[in-house]
Amino acid sequence: MASQSSQPPLPIAVIICSGRQPRIGDQVTRYVLNTIQSAYPSSSLTLIDLLAWNLPMFNEPTIPSQIHSSADYIQPHTRLWSEEISKYKGFVFVTPQYNWGYPAVLKNAIDYLFNEWKGKSAMVVSYGGHGGGKAAVQLRGVLEGLRMNAVETMPGLHLVPREVLKTAAVGGKLELEGEGALWGEKERVEICKAFGELEGLLGKQLTLAHTNGT
Ligand SMILES: Cc1cc2nc3c(=O)[nH]c(=O)nc-3n(C[C@H](O)[C@H](O)[C@H](O)COP(=O)(O)O)c2cc1C
Repeated sequence: MASQSSQPPLPIAVIICSGRQPRIGDQVTRYVLNTIQSAYPSSSLTLIDLLAWNLPMFNEPTIPSQIHSSADYIQPHTRLWSEEISKYKGFVFVTPQYNWGYPAVLKNAIDYLFNEWKGKSAMVVSYGGHGGGKAAVQLRGVLEGLRMNAVETMPGLHLVPREVLKTAAVGGKLELEGEGALWGEKERVEICKAFGELEGLLGKQLTLAHTNGT
């Protein structure tokens, strides 16, 4: 399943898309990252935590699509966020579902930038009582608006039975590794399938960049 390419792996950010405290987003995102890393040991994955970034509500005077250099942002936090996102060629968004959508903290973080996302590849993993599929579909639509390429497979991690959802609500510890783990082979296969598609898109992205001389 691991990539056979002789090229160095392209940097990919794995984003914790929940900013509340307490939360399970950090545990779920680490589980997704570990699942990918074991199947694709040569992949280059970096965790980004939107809680740690703590971006204020969007407060730039210029529409980000009109900005092509981080120096042209007014706010220091936008410049730093721009520089961070510019480092990566691909993204794994790990998002909870809030009221049938994805969290405001994620939309806010996305809206700060445009050209830093544009043309890059992404996959979406959602979680919730029923897997958070409605949030994933919404996010996918927004990524399309940013001219990003999102993979078809969108794994949804179910917080069942009810006791698990209750534990999640208070940010309790979930059993995600080892015997008796909440998720198993089915979820692992879905996550790896999505990542395989992401690698495919990244390959096309690289070819396009070479063709354009960028
Ligand atoms: C504001 C809010 C809205 C929620 N709405 C949904 C929902 O629409 N569907 C769902 O399955 N779970 C919903 N939940 C439950 C979350 O799936 C669960 O609390 C999960 O732990 C949230 O992820 P987090 O802890 O990483 O923030 C909601 C939770 C919150 C805090």
